[in-house]
Amino acid sequence: MLKVESIASGYGSAQALWDVSLEVGEGEIVTIIGPNGAGKSTLVNVLAGIHPAWSGSVNLDGVELTKLASHEVCGAGIAVVPEGRQVFPDMTVADNLEIGGYHPSVRQYRDETYERVIGIFPILADRGGQLAGSMSGGEQQMLAIGRALMARPRYLLLDEPSLGLAPVIVENIFEVLRQINDEGVSVVVVEQNVVEALQLASRGYVLEQGNIVKEASADQLLEDPAVRAAYLGV
Ligand SMILES: Nc1ncnc2c1ncn2[C@@H]1O[C@H](COP(=O)(O)OP(=O)(O)O)[C@@H](O)[C@H]1O
Ligand SMILES: [Mg+2]
Repeated sequence: MLKVESIASGYGSAQALWDVSLEVGEGEIVTIIGPNGAGKSTLVNVLAGIHPAWSGSVNLDGVELTKLASHEVCGAGIAVVPEGRQVFPDMTVADNLEIGGYHPSVRQYRDETYERVIGIFPILADRGGQLAGSMSGGEQQMLAIGRALMARPRYLLLDEPSLGLAPVIVENIFEVLRQINDEGVSVVVVEQNVVEALQLASRGYVLEQGNIVKEASADQLLEDPAVRAAYLGV
């Protein structure tokens, strides 16, 4: 279980997260929705050890993560697909994947993991020699997810994976997330694409101005008048 308790964080003197608490159980798909500037990326980056927490705790099955460096958080079983994908554009697709599987805790499984990743995204094998930066946005998103999977995470965090992608590609990617979850990986997906995210997840949290203002089942959130008014424009 990933247990986040009373996280505060920010940039300089500007606080971006206030007392954020949430839980993600083993095997769950949980979504965190919220408007632009709500603190979603800051939260993901704190969970991944990329950005420091000011206070509070992130605990994965008894291991405290807030004091760990990002590669140690990765070794503990959390991988992240960052906002804007952030593949290494001047490296090949194959080398991007290689880097994802570089952590000593998973290096020995490299070949087996690679087979699994290209089983999910065959295009990453077809395009292995191509520079990542020359691929389309959707392909780069697949690569970013594939690179994260190379770390054999137990928890996969995704920061707005649908951003800037055509609806049919988004559908594709969310289908893959379901498949990855079926294979036993817990998924935390941060989204502004609220309907798709709530259709994928079993539970969701609403983050506004750095605070969790609501937690409910995905079905309940889809029916919630305030959520519908704020995020679905109905
Ligand atoms: N590098 C940064 N330096 C200063 N302020 C930042 C930085 N990144 C984000 N912020 C601020 O933190 C708040 C939360 O941002 P962010 O976590 O990116 O929100 P979201 O991902 O929900 O759009 C915003 O007010 C934003 O302006
Ligand atoms: Mg963001």
